[in-house]
Amino acid sequence: MTREKFYITTAIPYMNAKLHLGQMYEYILTDVVARFNRLIGKDTFFLTGADEHGQKINKNAEKKDVSPQEYVDEMVTDMKRLLKLYDISNDSYIRTTDKKHEEIVRKILTEFKNNGDLYKGTYEGKYCVPCETFLLESQLEEGKCPQCKRDVESVKEENYFFKLSTYEGRLIRHIEANPDFIVPETRKNEVLGILKQGLKDISVSRTAVKWGIPIPFDPNHYTYVWVDALINYISALGYSSEDQDLFNRYWPADQHHIGKDILKFHAIIWPAMLMSLGMELPKQIVVHGWLLMGEEKLSKSKGITLDPDDMSEKFGVDGIRYFLTREISFGQDGSFTSRAFIRRYNSDLSNDIGNLVSRTLAMISKYRNGIIPKKVSNPVFEKEWDDLKKGAFGYIKDFKFSDYLVKVWEFMNNANKYIEDSQPWVLAKSENEEDRKKLDAVLYELAEIIRLSAVLLIPFMPSTCRKIFSQLGINIGINEMTIEEEGVWGRYAGGAEAGQREILFPRLDEDQ
Ligand code: ME8
Repeated sequence: MTREKFYITTAIPYMNAKLHLGQMYEYILTDVVARFNRLIGKDTFFLTGADEHGQKINKNAEKKDVSPQEYVDEMVTDMKRLLKLYDISNDSYIRTTDKKHEEIVRKILTEFKNNGDLYKGTYEGKYCVPCETFLLESQLEEGKCPQCKRDVESVKEENYFFKLSTYEGRLIRHIEANPDFIVPETRKNEVLGILKQGLKDISVSRTAVKWGIPIPFDPNHYTYVWVDALINYISALGYSSEDQDLFNRYWPADQHHIGKDILKFHAIIWPAMLMSLGMELPKQIVVHGWLLMGEEKLSKSKGITLDPDDMSEKFGVDGIRYFLTREISFGQDGSFTSRAFIRRYNSDLSNDIGNLVSRTLAMISKYRNGIIPKKVSNPVFEKEWDDLKKGAFGYIKDFKFSDYLVKVWEFMNNANKYIEDSQPWVLAKSENEEDRKKLDAVLYELAEIIRLSAVLLIPFMPSTCRKIFSQLGINIGINEMTIEEEGVWGRYAGGAEAGQREILFPRLDEDQ
């Protein structure tokens, strides 16, 4: 049986500086969706990578007195390390300095030229280097970039232009006919608003910026970094190259995940480029909000950063993955504060899940010598589990991560209550055969609730789930698990020895 495919991507970050937690937030959201789709058995391909060309990177390399290539090589190594640290499960990693990618960009530019979508003209206007964006005078706010509020440069140069304006009507029709093409809806309306004001053709080459891919038919021109970067979503699959297996298998993308600042590139320019190539459009553009520190957007160049290394040392990766998905409503901006983090961590992680696991395993150790009792008939929680599992699909489809987690927590907290109600410590003292059986049943139910909750939590807290399965004596890797196989009440037969016990989330001190 062929499995349904699922192709999901992140934006590829500029390799101008070390990643900050705002960028990690995007990889975490995308990772949750990718892992969930693997869990439901889809043939999933999760792509991320690095955006390595352009003026901003060139400038930073110059400042450090190294070649741009050396500069980005170092940044890429660090990004890959951080992806690992944060348990991001990408299947592939594209670099825009890969020869294969550069070759495909050149072919695509030639194709634009051949089909009449490219022409030469003069660009005179402003350019925001941090955003790598051409801006009209009328778009500036108090003379500054409307997006990042920084100074802009004046530019006058000969450029190749892409006939974006030709695609206005088709784009509007596509968005109106496909209501889920851009989510959330506010972002869709924003795009329609831009389109209805009318589109201008865009510059797609630079002559002044030489850290880029030379245009094959005019080597004084270098590809505008955004055109180069957007192509990553198909070049990574080998589009128009000798080996197109991945492209045939996965295109069109099911979801491009991006932040709200780069909406226009993904919802207007990219689809127009694909239309020009006669290709299918991605199915969905999923737009998240900004992670703020207090009121401010994180920004390395403004010195407002949350360093992913410091954060993981202080708070632990799964704590951060949980906090960001539980606390921030999808699509909205969200703020990180240590106080909010520590509160949520102590209550949901140390108390709720942490205590459930540690109390259950302590009782299994104390009352049953570490052997998890055998499966029971007439389970108490089977129906609740089935309902929870059914609901999970819808929450992920609608990016309601917080609601998903709330439901899993309700399930676990019902188990915490069940411990109080059934009083295993009283049953353990009884000599009565019925009580002995009752104790076995309670412990089995608890172990099964923990196991099944952990199956649903794999996308959010992979490393914690590995620890939970190991404490339950289960040896299946989390990447091999599926909801269909493992997400069935009673699938665990019991009778096995529990693994080494370990505290999952040591309490954090609120005053620190
Ligand atoms: O835009 N909160 O790269 P980038 C949430 N190279 N998300 C944030 C964020 C924050 N504080 N700061 C950044 C680029 N992001 C281009 C992309 S794709 C073909 C090229 C998100 O390094 C941002 O919205 O500036 C974007 O989706 C991603 O991180 C990379 O941003």
